[in-house]
Amino acid sequence: MKKVITYGTYDLLHYGHRRLLERAKALGDYLIVGVTSDDYDKSRGKINVKQSLIERMQGVRETGLADEIIVEEYEGQKIDDIKKYGVDVFAIGSDWLGKFDYLKEYCEVTYLDRTEGISSSDLRREENALNLGLVGNSANVDKVKKEAAFVDGLNVTEIRSDGSGFESLLEKVDAVYIYSRPEEHYEQIKKALNAGRHVLCETPLTMKKSQCDELFRLAEENGLVLMEALKTAFSTAYTRLLLLLKSGKIGEVISVDTTCTSMEDISGLTGDMLNERWNSICDWGPTALLPIFQILGTAPVSRRIISRRAAGTYDTFSKIDFVYERAVASAKVGKGVKSEGEMVITGTKGYVYVPAPWWKTDFFEVRYEDQSTNQRYFYQLEGEGIRYELVAFLHAVHGKHTNEEIDIDVTRAIASVMEAYGSGDGLYLLGETT
Ligand code: CTP
Repeated sequence: MKKVITYGTYDLLHYGHRRLLERAKALGDYLIVGVTSDDYDKSRGKINVKQSLIERMQGVRETGLADEIIVEEYEGQKIDDIKKYGVDVFAIGSDWLGKFDYLKEYCEVTYLDRTEGISSSDLRREENALNLGLVGNSANVDKVKKEAAFVDGLNVTEIRSDGSGFESLLEKVDAVYIYSRPEEHYEQIKKALNAGRHVLCETPLTMKKSQCDELFRLAEENGLVLMEALKTAFSTAYTRLLLLLKSGKIGEVISVDTTCTSMEDISGLTGDMLNERWNSICDWGPTALLPIFQILGTAPVSRRIISRRAAGTYDTFSKIDFVYERAVASAKVGKGVKSEGEMVITGTKGYVYVPAPWWKTDFFEVRYEDQSTNQRYFYQLEGEGIRYELVAFLHAVHGKHTNEEIDIDVTRAIASVMEAYGSGDGLYLLGETT
């Protein structure tokens, strides 16, 4: 019996796929189809895949052409499979011409003409089409624009570097990404939601918890998506870390400690000019608070904010301490200090160490008293997580998984801390400096 093998993602199975499978099948008596796993696709930069592995395998099964369907999970697996299944022919579309010649050592390699005029990417672009407007500081907005180019279907059609022309922008887009100063978020989100536009807004979403509640209510009433843009929440390593903790890998979590710092030169800036800047607590606070609220919950027994201020409301350093019923947490943030940007999660059986910069995490280690049992985890991270955040937003707009990565309660809790800092609730100021 002559065995043929072929591989692919087979997202939104189309005519081109079917034609390829037919011709591959005709090369022998038995066809094995390898379908890429979600993780494998993500690790090789294919972040847009719309259907789950199960749905994609089902699509291949329904063609009736595959005698066997397997999952492709890692680089180099093809050689293993060819040996394991006793494959005679490896077949693949001509878009891969020459790329798999190294398999000729193990079996016959055939490149089949790719069908013109159709691809999963095109189908996704059609299905996902969304015109996005960007609002805010130009450097930040440029970064988002660059990342949006990696997301099938997302078209950045309008950009405003400040709040002017916001209403006319809303007329031309389906959704907005707001990256303006935190104090402007509330009004802009409200306008966008009232105009029937979906909103992805840079964290902190608002400076008051009540504003958060009002805006989420408004979004729900209007059937719109409102999402906080906090890129760390969308990194694969970070989400896997949360799952590991839930499974009891380090026992009960007793302490979560996060640090985020970046130096900013504010010399010569006073009064309004300084207040225009994102201070430490707005710029870094939400990121540093995210794991605390996601791991220990959003209802601490007590909270204290200790800040060092330059002038006005600009804090050069803040430490936010929490006491929970059975745990403690601390977030250190600063733009006028420098420290190691790491995260440590202490448990009753072991701890998790995430090296700096932990908020762009692609790696973490689970460590124990017996070091020989330590485990290291690595997951590819592209574009600091922004492109995954955009994909999640697009999925939410198209009716899949809203607010899955960042629960609304977490967004509210972050806004509460911003509010407490603003009102001075539980705030201790270190000696005034100039
Ligand atoms: N294929 C083909 N003709 C097409 C599209 C795909 O022959 N028009 C073949 C590919 O060459 C590959 C297999 O189908 O051998 C699976 O391809 P896959 O990457 O899943 O499909 P694409 O439509 O190319 O997906 P994408 O746009 O995401 O790259």
